Amino acid sequence: MKNAEAMKTTVREKYAEIALQSRETNAASCCGVGTPGTYTIMSESYAQLAGYNPDADLALGCGLPTEFAHIEPGDTVLDLGSGAGNDCFVARAATGDSGKVIGVDFTPEMVRKARLNAEKLGFNNVEFRQGDIEDLPVSDNSTDVIVSNCVLNLVPDKARVFSEIMRTLRPGGHFSISDIVLVGQLPKALQQSAELYAGCVAGAIQHEDYLNLIREAGFENITVQKQKPILIPDHILLAHLSDEGLQDFLASGTGIFSITVYAEKPGGTPTAKNREKRKVNLAELKAAIACCEPGSGCC
Ligand SMILES: C[S@@+](CC[C@H](N)C(=O)[O-])C[C@H]1O[C@@H](n2cnc3c(N)ncnc32)[C@H](O)[C@@H]1O
Repeated sequence: MKNAEAMKTTVREKYAEIALQSRETNAASCCGVGTPGTYTIMSESYAQLAGYNPDADLALGCGLPTEFAHIEPGDTVLDLGSGAGNDCFVARAATGDSGKVIGVDFTPEMVRKARLNAEKLGFNNVEFRQGDIEDLPVSDNSTDVIVSNCVLNLVPDKARVFSEIMRTLRPGGHFSISDIVLVGQLPKALQQSAELYAGCVAGAIQHEDYLNLIREAGFENITVQKQKPILIPDHILLAHLSDEGLQDFLASGTGIFSITVYAEKPGGTPTAKNREKRKVNLAELKAAIACCEPGSGCC
């Protein structure tokens, strides 16, 4: 595999091409980027979500990070690797007019497309910044919630991204990130494929190492909210493996998973999720007190 800068250039070039074509072309046509479907097999349906904007949906995600993001009206939300703005517009529906949504992406063509989408909707509190998520163009302690969909696997220094998330979240803020992880090793031919690197598979790390990076960055209450296996169609695998190599891979037991992980930055005021937990604890406390009242028969 190439060095970090060369890998980033490959990723930027692929996503620039994708930004310039329609979702349908990318998913199905022989004129899409690379082997048909490589970039869209992991995506979930957004159509039922409030704020959904079909123009921003290039089917490039691998989960629904906003589903577990506990975004509240007035929140400042940051989306890492925002593409054409798909999760930003869903987040905007939750923050309302009083909040703010910032998308960061390092592919100029994606940023242009996202800005055009925001302009068409007339939103003045959704902003797209061009930048690298290893070095976020966002000030310290300035965001309530960070989301990201299928991006960190593309980044060579994932520890650096979690340290940037820690820097930019306010104390007590939280993140919800959908990403790809592995359990077991990919065959060398898949590991070394630039197309599968840009297609969110070859740059993925082990499930356990991913959670360890989050722990080592200092986050608390780390929870895998959702996990699902990703089955890569044979026609994509056969672009990189022989028939025998494919059979060996299928028999190897290696798993490719989409996970959505939630975690909190320590300190500060409680997040929405913590507030919910406290409500539950308060209800438990009240029940315990009632139970101890004279005549209740349980103490
Ligand atoms: C798989 S796409 C996902 C886009 C978007 N999150 C979505 O679900 O539609 C990955 C996006 O991350 C961006 N990206 C990859 N590496 C990045 C980095 N180091 N810094 C900023 N953006 C990056 C790419 O330009 C691309 O738009």
